[in-house]
Amino acid sequence: MYDPSQLVSYLDMAAADLLGTAGSLTVRRLSDLNGLFEDIDAYNKALSRENSLVYTVREAAFPSDEGDLTCALGKLMPGQIGDEYYFTKGHLHQWREAAEIYLVLSGEGFMLLEDEKSGESRLLPFQRNGLVYVPGHAAHRTINTGDSPLVYLGITPARAGHDYFTDDHKNFLKVVVEVSDKPVLMDREDYHRFYSPLKGH
Ligand code: 6PG
Ligand code: NI
Repeated sequence: MYDPSQLVSYLDMAAADLLGTAGSLTVRRLSDLNGLFEDIDAYNKALSRENSLVYTVREAAFPSDEGDLTCALGKLMPGQIGDEYYFTKGHLHQWREAAEIYLVLSGEGFMLLEDEKSGESRLLPFQRNGLVYVPGHAAHRTINTGDSPLVYLGITPARAGHDYFTDDHKNFLKVVVEVSDKPVLMDREDYHRFYSPLKGH
């Protein structure tokens, strides 16, 4: 039987971190998101100023055998590159059937889903106390549209794994951009072809 200390973790909300059974910490800065923001000039300009912290993910270190669950605490900073809000890289689970449940602890934004087979997108509200379900076979990306950190807990089967972009599929088909102070979901191609050049950056 497990030691009780292996089965209990604590949320440190001030630090947006896990205490107790804390596992690995992933830190992603702007340079780790190279090629993902549509406005390349704005990205390069921002990076030349500072390689800012975009998000951290602290994994819990719970048991990880077949049938186990795992969870991770994400903290996504507020910010924009051009008109696009800060986001996570986004991924499919390696075990494609694996779903995920998110609990939003603070901040506001969206969860962008993209079905692997149909390419269809869904934009789900991601707000404090929200419980958000990400079905299997859906690429998912968290987006912070607020002005404070977006903090959330994601729970998946321990063997879900992460599959990031490949040469075939380099990015999500939709972007979330600020238009007249509001977040708007639009086709990446439309944003790329019309919107970005018009804005002159
Ligand atoms: C997961 C969760 C979540 C995710 C973070 C960072 O499957 O572990 O979806 O913890 O990893 O939000 O996003 P990226 O893994 O896409 O960088
Ligand atoms: Ni996931």
